[in-house]
Formats: sequence, structure tokens, C-alpha cells
Amino acid sequence: MMGNNFMKSLDLKCPIIQAPMAGGITTPVLVSEVSNQGALGMIGAGYLKPDQLRVQINQVKALTNANFGVNLFVPEHFELNEDQVAKSKQLIDNYELLLNHKMKEPDLPTKEIEKQTYEELLKIVIEERVAACSFTFGIPTKKTIENLKQNGIMTIGTATTVPEAIAIERAGMDAVVVQGSEAGGHRGNFLVDSPNSMIGLIALIPQVTDQVSIPVIAAGGIMDGRGLSAALCLGADAVQMGTAFLTCKESGANPVHKQAVLQAKSEDIVSTKAFSGKEARGIENRFMKEMHVHENKLPPFPVQNALTQNLRKAATQQKDADFMSLWSGQSPTLAREETVERLVRRVVNEANLILNK
Ligand SMILES: Cc1cc2nc3c(=O)[nH]c(=O)nc-3n(C[C@H](O)[C@H](O)[C@H](O)COP(=O)(O)O)c2cc1C
Repeated sequence: MMGNNFMKSLDLKCPIIQAPMAGGITTPVLVSEVSNQGALGMIGAGYLKPDQLRVQINQVKALTNANFGVNLFVPEHFELNEDQVAKSKQLIDNYELLLNHKMKEPDLPTKEIEKQTYEELLKIVIEERVAACSFTFGIPTKKTIENLKQNGIMTIGTATTVPEAIAIERAGMDAVVVQGSEAGGHRGNFLVDSPNSMIGLIALIPQVTDQVSIPVIAAGGIMDGRGLSAALCLGADAVQMGTAFLTCKESGANPVHKQAVLQAKSEDIVSTKAFSGKEARGIENRFMKEMHVHENKLPPFPVQNALTQNLRKAATQQKDADFMSLWSGQSPTLAREETVERLVRRVVNEANLILNK
């Protein structure tokens, strides 16, 4: 029942991709175990330094012979506005006082460093001949796409709207992740502002599959066989699941984050720019609530992300969920603390039962 060209091209036994989750969640143990189960493990490399990515790729290779992928953030154009930075710092300083933690001055990103790091990460993906490279926050250049493809690497884009999916196909990419508004973590919108990109997955999948002919991978709120079978029925070739893998035993998510997801209800999940300057979905906490009124005056990604880094670190050390970014999709009550093997088998069995009915 489940078998298509997309699965064949990556030698997958099931149409499941473990979402890349930057920030220490998608450890080599998680990624390799997902690939060993016949799904596609993905390293979230968005915040990694080049040497860290090389080490992680080699660790995954030591743990699996199966295919896996790497995900990168396409560097965006951003301006450093000193006024904005000063105001944001002032707000964040209050919380640092509250946590009784003297923070060092954050290193602010520059466009040049961001671009250079991205180029170095790409070089490693190519040198290591990773099976697939996915991107979010934009479309890589034609040259990058061609370079990856010439080296036998599948290129996957991220879209939140039909025009974004069309643009990804036109750029020559091999597949597209369509990210519904349910999705946990950052939104991958790049042609429209985030409020206009909030399209539910049930609306997005068929409208995209009507317009593009590359494989479509559905992401957002999919946690079990019901979600997988629904996505396939709507025309998707595979699904990308984040929150479901985040609470797995093998995931590197901080225990406070895992427990928060396991206890959250869908009404607790909101979208915010407070932590990073870019819209992202997670469990509402004190920082998100209190920063809400300032959201439109904050510096853009990745500047705000750098400004809140020390606060998030201190909060993590103190196990204080009020100041951590607890990213989660809209289906947290369906999350379980189980092994990757159990999750993948369960999702596939449930979907097969539904599809064979
Ligand atoms: C904690 C977390 C981190 C994420 N980090 C990334 C990332 O680095 N790159 C990316 O393309 N998507 C990232 N995402 C989004 C996922 O690719 C995917 O769209 C989302 O997890 C789907 O929704 P779900 O969490 O309900 O399954 C992240 C999601 C979560 C929950």
C-alpha cells in the first residue's frame, strides 16, 4: 500500500521523515535510529558550526548504513538596527536579573559570518555525500542546487503556501516539504509574511499537489497513523514529523522540554516571535506572554535569537520552563515517550490498517 517513487529514491521502507530540529534535539543517536527503522533521519544543522556538523555526520554513519539527511537555514537578508537591539536587550536584561544570572554580552551575528558558515556547512554536506539536503527560510541559489544534485544529493525545499511550493519546483529542487500552520518550531515562509502563511495542512496539501509535480512531504501536527494516512489520501508522498520524534527516548531534547510537551494541551500552543525574531510555534510560557506586546518591535532573526541565547541557556540550567523555547506542534496530547522503533512501527501499522479498510 505504501510505496512510491519518493521512497524508492531514498531507499525508505516507510514514507516518514524525522523533522530536522536544530538546537541539539536531532542527535546522531536519534537520526541513525530513525534511518535504521526505514524512515529518514535528518540532522538539524541550522545552528551547528561546520566542524560540529562533520562530527555528527560521521557519528550517524558509524551507527547506520541507511540514508539520512541534513537540514540548513538559507541565510536571510537582515539589518542590524542599534535602537531595536538596545530596546530588546533592555527587556531581556530584566529577565536575566530575575534568573539572578549575570550574562555575558551576546555575540551579534553579521550577514558575512552567517553566509560564510552556510557555505562551509554546504561544502561538508557535499564532501560527505549525504543522501538528502533540505532547506528552510528560503530557496538556495541555482548554483547550490545544481552542485548538490550533481553530487547525487536530493534537494528538498520548505513551503508554507502554494506559490512557495511552485517557486521551489521552478528552482529545480527535487521535493518540497509543505508546512501547515499546525507545525512546531519556526515557520519556513519566505514569499509572504508569517500571518499570511498560516494555512492548515488539510487545505495546503491538495492545493499544492494540484500545482506541482515534485514529491510533496506533509508537515504539521502529524503524530500517528491517522495523520500519516490522511496526508497520503490528500496526495502527499511522505510526512515529516517533528514533535512526535521530540519526545522519543532517543531524542536529545532537554528533559524539561520533553515533559512540557507530554503535559501540554493544544490550547497551550501558540506562535511567537519573542525568542528569535521569527515566527515559531511552541508552548506558551511567561516570556512569550510578556513579550507579546513588543513582538513587532524586536530585531529580526537571527539577531533576536542571539540576544535571547544567554537567557535560554540560563533558564535551561535552572530547569525553568518559563524562559526556554519549548517548540511544539499543535498535537502535543498525541505525543508519547517511546522508542523510535515503537513510534515508527506503530505509525506504519495504524496507517496500513486505515488504508487497507
Ligand atoms: C523543536 C523543533 C525544532 C525544529 N527545527 C527545525 C529546523 O531546524 N529546520 C526545519 O526545517 N524545521 C524545523 N522544525 C519544523 C519541522 O520541520 C516541522 O515542520 C514540524 O515539526 C512539523 O510539525 P509537528 O512538530 O507538529 O510534527 C522544527 C520543529 C520543532 C518542533
